[in-house]
Amino acid sequence: MPGPITDFTKGYEIQNKLHTLIPGGSHTYSKGEDQFPRRSPQVMSHADGAYCWDVDGNKFLDWAMGNRVIILGHNYPAVNEAVKKQIDLGINFTRPGILEYELAEYLVDLFPVAEMVKFGKNGSDVTTAAIKLARAFTGRDYVAMCSDHPFFSIHDWFIASTPMNAGIPEEHRKYSLGFRYNDIEGLQRLFDEHPGKIAAIILEPVKNEEPKDDYLQKLRDLCTKEGAILIFDEMISGLRFDLRGAHHLWKVYPDLATYGKCISNGFSFSLLAGRRDIMELGGLHHDKPRTFLLSQTHSSETVGLAAAMATLKECERVDISKHTWGIGKKLVDGVRALAKEEGVENFVRIIGFDCNPQILCTTENGVYYPELHTSFHEEMISWGVLIPWITITYSHGDRELDMTFDALRHGMRKVRRALESGDVNSSFEGEAVKPVFRKFNR
Ligand SMILES: Cc1ncc(COP(=O)(O)O)c(C=O)c1O
Repeated sequence: MPGPITDFTKGYEIQNKLHTLIPGGSHTYSKGEDQFPRRSPQVMSHADGAYCWDVDGNKFLDWAMGNRVIILGHNYPAVNEAVKKQIDLGINFTRPGILEYELAEYLVDLFPVAEMVKFGKNGSDVTTAAIKLARAFTGRDYVAMCSDHPFFSIHDWFIASTPMNAGIPEEHRKYSLGFRYNDIEGLQRLFDEHPGKIAAIILEPVKNEEPKDDYLQKLRDLCTKEGAILIFDEMISGLRFDLRGAHHLWKVYPDLATYGKCISNGFSFSLLAGRRDIMELGGLHHDKPRTFLLSQTHSSETVGLAAAMATLKECERVDISKHTWGIGKKLVDGVRALAKEEGVENFVRIIGFDCNPQILCTTENGVYYPELHTSFHEEMISWGVLIPWITITYSHGDRELDMTFDALRHGMRKVRRALESGDVNSSFEGEAVKPVFRKFNR
């Protein structure tokens, strides 16, 4: 392994200029400077396979993969070739393209949840479309969302419920209710408090916690009993837990499911899939009030469609979830063993499912410790491993695991030194990472 990476000079210069041009200095809050240690790559130049490079020429093993948008690897040949071929066939037509038909038919065959499908470009397009459909179908206004899951949409129905809700009329907030994962009685209470008023229940089918005591099936049954639409957001869990969605592993099927992020290996595409009787409200062949489901200039732009088709077919061919679970298990076991060896197992933890784990620095009793986490991540970065979160792709193999374990030893030793010094805050440069959803910047 080469020596520590210390030079981010050009990145700092461009980052400063970015803030004068773009609010937040980036187009995604989770890519902003408040989400990373000061000593980290500021601006990226390119990426390939499991690696990425910054504008200072530093090379990193990339566990972040954008916002988890890659499943096969950066520049994956089968996807890029399909995209290049499609560009020469035209990228946006005046009537539906043949690829729209082919992809829709493929998805309806592949995904048990999909009686019909509708395409978007971002995850928020399809979660918002799912909420609108649920409201139109049930004639109800309230939406209950899992408070243990951090993000469902950039749109007002969700952002109204966060502390970062400036610019959203107060009344939006009243329709957004929260419930806890694995708490079926709590959800029943919510239905009892708002009888006949809750249109939709939205959650990720699984995040970091195991569904306990048949939770997913009980949730399914409760929604059916109460006449609410069950929406599983498979943006992160889709493909990784199971190609068809995590719910398919547990054999509990929602009314509507939403997919995005890695489904097209980084190209812009998202998918709403679900029950025909609900989805058809957005169609032309019924006598009910018309529902403006999704209609975007770029929804059927063919590059995203070609990328999705190629990604899904390749993921089917290589049995992607077998890979994500396998590499993830080695990573999880390795992190736990190393943390024990370095005597920091109560401070550097790896949580979640093997196919989608998360490393967290915590206090001794398990509470997230942002300062310690920043210090740890700063050290990982200096040893060439970018790991703000973990995205396992088909390009991550044993070589990448070995690199990660080497860096982890440094990261864990730094954690131990920082704790022993009694001054964790001085163990890294700049400020600790902050939550995106906060009321004020400082
Ligand atoms: C679970 C989940 N749902 C929805 C979204 C929104 O997706 P997008 O950013 O593509 O609009 C995200 C994005 O991070 C997400 O993590």
